[in-house]
This record gives sequence, C-alpha cells and structure tokens, in this order.
Amino acid sequence: MKKTRIGIIGTGGISHCHMMGYKELEAEGRVELVACCDIDGKKLDAFAEKYGFAKKYTNAAEMMKNEQLDCVSVCVWNSAHKDCTVTALRGGANVLCEKPMALNAKEAQEMADEAKKAGKLLQLGFVRRFGEDADAVKKLVDDGTFGDIYYAKATYLRQNGCPGGWFGDKEFSGGGPLIDLGVHVIDLTRYLAGNPKPVTAFGVTYDNLGMHRAESEQGWVVEQGEHPYTVEDLCAAMIRFDNGLTLSIEASFNLNIEGDVGDVQLFGTKAGTSVNQMRVLTTKDGKFITFTPEGEHSFRFGPAFVSEIRGFVDAAEGKRECLAPAEDGVWLMKIIDAVYESARTGVSVEIK
Ligand SMILES: NC(=O)c1ccc[n+]([C@@H]2O[C@H](COP(=O)([O-])OP(=O)(O)OC[C@H]3O[C@@H](n4cnc5c(N)ncnc54)[C@H](O)[C@@H]3O)[C@@H](O)[C@H]2O)c1
Repeated sequence: MKKTRIGIIGTGGISHCHMMGYKELEAEGRVELVACCDIDGKKLDAFAEKYGFAKKYTNAAEMMKNEQLDCVSVCVWNSAHKDCTVTALRGGANVLCEKPMALNAKEAQEMADEAKKAGKLLQLGFVRRFGEDADAVKKLVDDGTFGDIYYAKATYLRQNGCPGGWFGDKEFSGGGPLIDLGVHVIDLTRYLAGNPKPVTAFGVTYDNLGMHRAESEQGWVVEQGEHPYTVEDLCAAMIRFDNGLTLSIEASFNLNIEGDVGDVQLFGTKAGTSVNQMRVLTTKDGKFITFTPEGEHSFRFGPAFVSEIRGFVDAAEGKRECLAPAEDGVWLMKIIDAVYESARTGVSVEIK
C-alpha cells in the first residue's frame, strides 16, 4: 500500500506536537515523512535531523513543486497561514492549518475557497475538538442529558502569559488573547453545542497592563524580542447564536487574577456541566444531584494532538469525516472579527 507523503511548513514550537502524531503513523507504516520547510535555516536543520526528514526547504512553494506531498501541516505564525496554506493546496496537498485560521475572516474565506477549487481537504487545528473531555461531553450532549443548551461561559485567563515574540505583535498574530487563546474555547463551545451559526457579538478589549509585569507563578516569562507588544491584554465578549445560545467569553494574557484559569461551562434546560471538572449538575426525584461520566475525560495535550493528526490523515485518505472543517474556521474568524470590531466601535456587531 502506498504510504501517505507528509510535509511540514513551520518547524517551531507546535510542529513538535504534530510530529507526535506523524511519528506514530510512521511507526505503523502508514505515512512517510518526506519534507519540512522553515524560513529559519537553523531551526529547519535541527527539526529535519530530529525527525529524520531527508528533504528540507526554506521556501514552501519550492517544496510543493519538488515533492508530491499528500498531507501538509501548516505550523507557521498566523500572518503566514493564508499564503502557506494556499501554496500547499495549489501544490496538490491536503492541509491541516494551525489555529487561528488566519488574520481575519476575509483571508479565511479565501483559504476555504482555494481548498474547494483544488478539491482538497482543509482541516483546522482545533485540537480541543480531539480531547477526551470533548468526547465525553459531546456524548452527553448527543444523548440529550443537557436538554437545550442556552447559555455557556468560556474562560482562558492567564495572570501574565503572553507567549512572547510575534504572539504580541498584531501584524504577525492578528490580535492577543482573543485570537490566540479565546479561539480554542469559543470553538470548543460551538462544537459541543452542535456548531450553531453566530449572529451577533458585543466585545471589549483592554491593554492596560502591557507585556511583562512580574515573575508569573505559572512560569510564563517570555521575552518580546524585536517584536513590539501591540495586542490586547484582556478581551471579554458576549456572542449570540441562531439556536438561542449565548456565550460569554473571557481571555487574557495579563490580568490581576491569582492564577491561570480555563474552562467551558454549559447550561441547559435539563443539566449543566463544567468541561474541566467534568461534573454534571442535574435533578432527580425533586433533588439536585451531580455525577461524573465514566471513562477518561481530562484534556491531555499529547493524546489530543495524536488524535488530531490521525483524524487529519484518515480524513485526507477518505476513511472518515473531517472533525474540524474549513467552514468552522471561517465562522470562528467571523466571530473574532466581530468582537474586535465591537470593541473598537462600542456597539454590538452583526455576523453574516
Ligand atoms: N493548537 C495549539 O494548541 C497551538 C499551540 C501553540 C501554537 N499554535 C499555533 O501554531 C502556529 C505556530 O506557533 P508556534 O508556537 O509554533 O510558533 P513558532 O514561532 O515557534 O514557530 C513558527 C515557525 O514558522 C516559521 N515560519 C514563519 N513564516 C514562514 C514561512 N512563510 N515559511 C516557512 N516557515 C515560516 C518561523 O520561522 C518559525 O520557525 C501559530 O499559528 C499558533 O497560533 C497552536
């Protein structure tokens, strides 16, 4: 059987998580690690050696021209997502692009259109959809445990946790904690609630605290390097969906809060839950009760990435449906655009 030919564009931090998955598939004889690419030659050399890629490139278009790649992971900074994804799609590959899909919805739509035109799969790096916590809650949602979910709260708050470098530079990142962290929990909420269509957003952003104030208890002390810090510290927003769901979301790089917190809470007509605690609150025989579903239900970074990569290669080979399709990435970018626009104008923004 022909092995699926793998390429990687961007060999920084997150690409190593993708490699956990590809290495497992390589060991099973399903994929061949063909080529990797980065504009930073030093990083590229170390990456190629570590994972055994025979071919390496500093230019993605050249890689796509020379190698017949079936599946490509795009792991570059946000401002390069669109160009690298379009290059890989035009070069004949299926693409897994990291989150956020792009700098804005316009770019995201162009990427989705390009995938359609090329007849290739474009999957988004919404890794939280692949967590065991998401699986456990999705099962409960699907069997009607919660009834109608009409309210949700999603938080991803760091006390002092800008990842540094380009993450704090709007030209490269598109924004701060909303587009970097909020995107994970907004998408997870939307996924768990059955992917409803967003209709309006009201949001606020603040940049009162700056990049680095003190030693963080969580150890998020990263230098900004040559990049200016030009993103928000905090974003809070209310997003309304067409099925009646309202989501309240808070995300921060910097906030005077005692420690880092993150969760998605769902509130339905029959029951509610916190995805982090995985305790379901409901009623039975006129009394409030709580229960915890059986099985594994914590979010574990490694296994979630392995499952994401496996899901991507399976979907590219037509063995199963893609769990995080391009259209969901486009909706997410529309939400993010609307929240930033609302924060700028002070009024609620319609999402179409
Ligand atoms: N899913 C998650 O949980 C998660 C976690 C962290 C980062 N991410 C996302 O992954 C992406 C990369 O983040 P990171 O932390 O790995 O960043 P990073 O800075 O460590 O790595 C990015 C790499 O991309 C390279 N690059 C930039 N433009 C390029 C181009 N045109 N061609 C080839 N290489 C190019 C850079 O040289 C760098 O090595 C971002 O979009 C980020 O939001 C996702």
